[in-house]
Amino acid sequence: MSDLIKTGVIGHPIKHSKSPLIHNYWMKEHHLNGSYEALDIPPEELLTQLPILFDQHFYTGFNLTIPHKELVLPLCDEIDETAQKIGAVNTILRRPDGSIFGTNTDAFGFIYNIKQNYPHFDFTKNAAVVLGAGGAAKAIIHGLLEAGAPQIILLNRTREKADLLAKTDARIIAQDWDQRSACLSGANLLVNTTALGMQGQAALDINLSKLPLDALVSDIVYAPLMTDLLLTAQQRGNPVITGIGMLLHQARPAFKLWYGIMPEVSPALEALVL
Ligand code: ATR
Repeated sequence: MSDLIKTGVIGHPIKHSKSPLIHNYWMKEHHLNGSYEALDIPPEELLTQLPILFDQHFYTGFNLTIPHKELVLPLCDEIDETAQKIGAVNTILRRPDGSIFGTNTDAFGFIYNIKQNYPHFDFTKNAAVVLGAGGAAKAIIHGLLEAGAPQIILLNRTREKADLLAKTDARIIAQDWDQRSACLSGANLLVNTTALGMQGQAALDINLSKLPLDALVSDIVYAPLMTDLLLTAQQRGNPVITGIGMLLHQARPAFKLWYGIMPEVSPALEALVL
């Protein structure tokens, strides 16, 4: 039998992470000798703990989640262009020569979730409206621009954060948060990247009446799976896509990086994670 390939996800907190379920499912599916665990490491210990995990506990790679995606940057010897553009790393690999490679699979996760569920969706057709300007929004906007979105209308409660992101690409147009219902006409995609609508959070207050009926509506919140935004959009006839798929698809390139196989997202895996 080949050597055990140890991987995991590091976060703080981490106990609700669904990533171990996903990666262990794929390892079983592909008969691989591997393990994937959740490790709780506080931010102030990340840069001292990681070398110990690699050198003394023989891990091959990790996913990084909140609050580590930016903190891990100085530890990487090489960061690919995607992660550089997003400004955050969510996947690292320790190569045989000891160097650490960092990438970010969140943009892939967002785009391929749509590609799998709506293969004919045309990212290049019209503007996308993105709500929120945090870490998730950065990855999603990068993915949308790479996929050919002609324009991103970006609205964030704190306008300055949207303005900063808009400075990075002429196709990003920042608008005031209170314009979120008014700016929907002509969009072919609406994405909520804020935590609004999540269990225990405030609702997302938005009026969809100006949104074209063929526009795709996406929410990165997946608890509940059908947020009020998605229910309202579905009731008026819009196609919708839930947040769980982004989580599943972002795991695929990480698994490929560590285990050499690009795994698929199946209905059985989705059911397991839900
Ligand atoms: P993530 O990595 O999940 O994107 P984040 O970086 O903390 O998390 O970003 C959270 C996003 O949700 C931000 O865009 C935030 O808006 P601010 O920049 O104004 O903080 C948005 N958000 C959180 N709570 C919100 C609320 N009550 N109303 C509107 N936007 C909210």
